[in-house]
Amino acid sequence: MNILIIAAHPRIEQSRVNQRWLSELREYPDRITVHELYKTYPDFAIDAKNEQELIARHDRIVLQFPIQWYSVPALLKQWLDDVFTTSWLFGTGGKAVGGKELVVAMSIGGDESSYQSGGMIGYTISELVRPIQVFANQIGMVFLPHYKLYGAIKAADVQIDNSAVRYVEHITSPDLNPITVRQRMLAEMTKASPNP
Ligand SMILES: Cc1cc2nc3c(=O)[nH]c(=O)nc-3n(C[C@H](O)[C@H](O)[C@H](O)COP(=O)(O)O)c2cc1C
Repeated sequence: MNILIIAAHPRIEQSRVNQRWLSELREYPDRITVHELYKTYPDFAIDAKNEQELIARHDRIVLQFPIQWYSVPALLKQWLDDVFTTSWLFGTGGKAVGGKELVVAMSIGGDESSYQSGGMIGYTISELVRPIQVFANQIGMVFLPHYKLYGAIKAADVQIDNSAVRYVEHITSPDLNPITVRQRMLAEMTKASPNP
């Protein structure tokens, strides 16, 4: 499985979490390609064709970012708008991204307890990433469970280190895709009782 990380941090030089995550990801160059948007496009002039070709070469796409005002950083939104054009998605040949997997990986300043109904923020992260989920659904990608680190601002170095290791485990697991897990469960059930 080829994994592409689309990393979008507006101030990566000041980052603790995203920077540590990127250094961990770079330990696996055979499986994981890291693509930093703010380094590649400091002027926001995105080369859509280049990005589309990069996506085409990968099976699982990970959008990695610090949550900012309950959303994605500006360049990541620009990237979504510029790269996923109707002509590319549905034009000649069509199905540019059909069946590819999409994962969101976020560092979150607030505590986990804030992100629940009745909590300080009042919404869960699953609710806040819904726009990306519906985007994936509409273009035929498979939206997978996200990865996150709450309390990112106050996190101790050891917590960030542990989160980096768990992050790689999360995004490289074939079982992240519930379709794969369900197929295996069905195969095992069929084997156990061949005559239903
Ligand atoms: C402009 C801005 C907006 C932010 N908005 C949020 C937010 O909506 N919710 C939240 O929990 N944290 C928010 N934060 C905190 C960041 O998510 C946090 O600093 C970041 O995830 C830490 O990761 P890093 O060490 O890689 O920078 C915001 C930070 C900035 C600079």
